[in-house]
This record gives sequence, C-alpha cells and structure tokens, in this order.
Amino acid sequence: MINSISTNKYTDYSWDFRKENTKGNTHCFHNYPAMMIPQIANRLLENYATHASLLFDPYCGTGTSLVEANLRNINAIGTDLNPLAILIAKTKTTLIDLNNLSENISKFLTYLNDRLFDTTNIEKPDFKNINYWFDEKVMKNLMIIKSFIKTLEDQKLRNFFNVAFSETVRESSWTRNGEFKLYRMNEKQIRKFEPKVFELMIKKLDRNYYGLKEYTINLKGNAKSIIYDFNTVKDIPDNLINNVDIVLTSPPYGDSRTTVAYGQFSRLANQWLDISEASKIDNMLMGGIKRKEFNEFEFSILNNVIKKIAQIDNKRALEINSFYYDYYLSIKNVAKTIKKKGYACYIVGNRTVKGITLPTDEITKSFFEMNGFKHIETIIRNIPNKRMPSKNCPTNIKGKKSATMLNEYIVVLQKK
Ligand SMILES: C[S@@+](CC[C@H](N)C(=O)[O-])C[C@H]1O[C@@H](n2cnc3c(N)ncnc32)[C@H](O)[C@@H]1O
Repeated sequence: MINSISTNKYTDYSWDFRKENTKGNTHCFHNYPAMMIPQIANRLLENYATHASLLFDPYCGTGTSLVEANLRNINAIGTDLNPLAILIAKTKTTLIDLNNLSENISKFLTYLNDRLFDTTNIEKPDFKNINYWFDEKVMKNLMIIKSFIKTLEDQKLRNFFNVAFSETVRESSWTRNGEFKLYRMNEKQIRKFEPKVFELMIKKLDRNYYGLKEYTINLKGNAKSIIYDFNTVKDIPDNLINNVDIVLTSPPYGDSRTTVAYGQFSRLANQWLDISEASKIDNMLMGGIKRKEFNEFEFSILNNVIKKIAQIDNKRALEINSFYYDYYLSIKNVAKTIKKKGYACYIVGNRTVKGITLPTDEITKSFFEMNGFKHIETIIRNIPNKRMPSKNCPTNIKGKKSATMLNEYIVVLQKK
C-alpha cells in the first residue's frame, strides 16, 4: 500500500505562459475542449527529451504534444477514441504541398460560386435531429461544401478541408457558443443568428493554410506522427513496449458525463463527417462505463476520498471509482511502453466533487510508482488560458456553483 505524497511539489508561475500566443503553427487549426498549451509541451520536451527519438501521447486529443515533438524532430505516436480528435491531430502533423493546397482552395472558391444556385445531385445528410440544430439555408450551404470535399481524391487534402468544415459546422449550428455540451440557443438567439457559412469556411481555410505554412517552415527534420485509436485502458500494442522515450499527455479530468463531454462537443461535426458512432463516443471514453462494485486501490488516500464521497452519494462515488480504475489500468499499460530512464509527464487537474478534492496529481504519482517509476517533480501552474470550465455544479443543485480547477499539476516521473 502506497501512502506517501509528493515531496518535490511546488508552484511555478513561469509555467503560466500568460499572454503567450498558444495558436502558432498548426495549433491554430481547430478548437477543442481542454487543449494543452503548446508552451508546456515544448518546455517539458526541452527539460526531459533532449535525446528522445519517440514520444507517445495516450490521450492525444488534437495532437498538441505530437506537433511539438515533431517540431523538435522527435517522432510521435498518439491515440484517441474520438474520431474528430484523430482527424485534427493527423491533419496538424501532416505536410501538404502548399502550392497544391492553395490551388485547391481557389478551386473551392470557384465551386462555391457555381453551385450556389445549382444544388442538383447534392446529397442531404440525414441524421437524427438534424433539423433541431440547423437552419435549412445553413444545411444547404454545408451540403455544398461537403460535396466539394467529396471531389478531392487526395486524403491529405480532404482531411485539411474537413478540419475547416468541422469548425464551420459547429459555428453555424444552433449550439450555444462557449459550451462544450450540446445546448440549443433560445428562440430569441435563433431568430437573430445568421451565420455566413461560406465566409466561416473560407476564414478557417485561410487561417489553417498560414498555420501549416509556419509549421512547414519551423520543422527541423522529417519526424512524423502516427495517430491510432487504441484504448490503453484495455491493452497496448506490442511494438510500443519499452520503445518510448517520453510520454507526454493531458488525460481527461473525469468521465465525460460529469466533466468535459468530448463526444458531445464533437457530435455534430462527427455526424456531418459520416462517423456512424458519433453519439456513443462519451460512453467509450475513460470512466464511461460504470462498474457496479468498488475497487480497493493500493493507495489509501484514494480509497479514503472515495469512501467520503460514498457517504454523501454512493452512485457518484461508484462513478469516480470507475474512472480511477480505468485510469489505473491505462497507466499500467502506458508504463510498459517507456524505456528504462524514460519519462512520464502527465498534466492533470484536481477536481472537486461534493466538496471533496480528488488529488489526481498524487493518484497519478502513486499509480506510476506501483509500476516501477520514481517521482521527479510536480509543478503547480495557474490556468490562465486553457478553455476549461473553471466553475462547475458539484452539488448538482441548479445555480449552486463553485470554483473547481484554477490550477493544473504537471507530474513528472522516471522509469527506474
Ligand atoms: C484533455 S483531452 C486531450 C487534449 C489534447 N492534449 C489537446 O491538446 O488537444 C483528453 C482526450 O482524451 C480522450 N480520451 C478519453 N478517454 C480515452 C481513452 N480511453 N483512450 C484514448 N483517448 C481517450 C478524449 O477523447 C480527449 O480527446
């Protein structure tokens, strides 16, 4: 049983990266909940990966750590279960001939003009509730864009256009902006809302083109990224075992239902991109399936917080237990991938449930220690610029909110 807590744990304001541009290179491509700040990945790589040749991110999201690794000529492997995240991460780390891209953007502009009054043979997507989220005119314009993307034969180009399309879908839908969950605007907001679909798409293409250009110029070698969809909670591919120099990741803070709903955030885009399981993603993510029994962990602090929460709300405690059990299984597999003397850098948040703080930084440290790692340091940073809800509704009483995560913990461990 592990009972010790971190000794080398300190606050360092220089990790806040206040006022820094977090959208350089391909980091500008697509918004996503709880994105990592590239400066954090970059600094961790500077401190812990000077001789590294392979990085692994088991919760890669849109691929912030992969982009930063490739910029330093370190190859990278990422995995995520959200198809939208995989698409964005792939596109952010893939070079495209810029002349060819620019020619295709021009072709797209001509296509829009030609198709505006002629939508014959353009298929209307058909998914549940489509009319609840989109105005008829918006749907027509989205269909025109989609029909152009279908004409692109080159997969890299198609991905590039699909990333811009995905953000266009979200921003032209009746979802309330600034919320990760799918909430519809009220009637008054809907009446006022007149998105300029083509303009939105063109702006995104333009912004992403310049992001890709900057990334192409800044790349120091020919390091590559490969993005998979395996689930480290379940298993780990053999070829990764003892092969990774550094794991750098920001795992989810909790299950999607009660923390960040990655699946809901991505659902409309995934549906327009013909991803069939779009509405099931949140259940597939860590903690998505609730276990019926409590697990006893080898870390008494975790057992104690779960017990305390169970005294207030047993169901909630079971959900938390399920999340940390998945997290434990994932770390067990991730630990196997790291070479001797290699590093694990986890950026985590300690959320509060029912007034009780879950010390995920200490939990992360203890789970790695159980798997042959020693703790190096835990840096506490403020979150000035991460898109995260800093308030939640821990009691589930409407309107009763409390501050949750104003800090993030960068936990660094080394394999013995
Ligand atoms: C905090 S986000 C990562 C954000 C990422 N660092 C970025 O900058 O975009 C956590 C990610 O974990 C993914 N995720 C949750 N459970 C997973 C699992 N079991 N396996 C792989 N990915 C998972 C979610 O889909 C989400 O994209």
